[in-house]
Amino acid sequence: MEFQNIIFEVEDGIAVITMNRPKALNALNNETLYELTDAVAYCAKTAEVKGLIITGAGKAFVAGADIVQMKDYGSEQGRDYAGFAQDVFNKIEALEKPVIAAVNGYALGGGCELSMACDIRIAGERAVFGQPEVNLGIIPCFGGTQRLSRLVGAGKAKELIFTTDYIKAEEAEKIGLANKVVAQDTLLDEAKAMMTKILSKAPLAIKYGKVAINKGLDLDLKNALELEKDLVGLCFATDDQKEGMAAFVEKRDATFSSK
Ligand code: HXC
Repeated sequence: MEFQNIIFEVEDGIAVITMNRPKALNALNNETLYELTDAVAYCAKTAEVKGLIITGAGKAFVAGADIVQMKDYGSEQGRDYAGFAQDVFNKIEALEKPVIAAVNGYALGGGCELSMACDIRIAGERAVFGQPEVNLGIIPCFGGTQRLSRLVGAGKAKELIFTTDYIKAEEAEKIGLANKVVAQDTLLDEAKAMMTKILSKAPLAIKYGKVAINKGLDLDLKNALELEKDLVGLCFATDDQKEGMAAFVEKRDATFSSK
């Protein structure tokens, strides 16, 4: 697929979206969000795509929403812009395939929020995370007030959002925002290696596990555990469960069919 602001490639079942507006540090203007929407929709409907990695070109992952575009917005336009980006990020979060953010540099504002819509964040040594919105007279609104609180706890989220302090990769790992830190030049390979490992597991179990975790976070424990039971019921209806357990008993590697 051809785009202006992102690069989209698929190899060995892994789609890679590279945010590619380096002159604006990959800031998320409307065109970029439309392209991201189309690329994610393609990933959702295309069986060839088993997993998705999102990364950035140049020194930024994404330096946020496009400040030039939104500087003269009024209340309604600001709200709509937030809604547009939230819709795209919700689609990434709801993709029934694993999604890894390979955070190569600045992940600020909407960039940090984009990474948090992914299932897993791998940070290169030069990654920098932050939510600087209150410097601009607004709040994080591409999901940041909610997803950051859920990932690192309300206290740390408030500290990061209220002070606008930027944190480096190691600190992000320490607080649970980044899953791991890797050498900068191995970032994409590390992300692909983790994705390849995930894709070697039972695909439907990965899908239902993602639903259980994501939907469960919106529920109280009792209902979340009900959901978990329902989803494992679906797992037990799959050929992959039969194959996975037969392979264990027969002391051989499983070959999953995604059925
Ligand atoms: C538009 C941006 C941009 C952004 C950088 N640029 N970030 N343009 N929107 N978010 C542009 C700069 O204007 C500049 O363009 C070029 O990219 C290079 O940036 P520099 O600032 O010259 O680079 P550097 O000195 O290395 O500083 C890097 C930086 C800084 C620290 C990341 O660019 C920065 O602070 N950016 C803004 C970060 C931010 O506040 N993001 C949150 C946005 S709010 P020119 O043309 O001068 O070369 C948000 C949610 C809001 O994300 C939602 C509202 C609905």
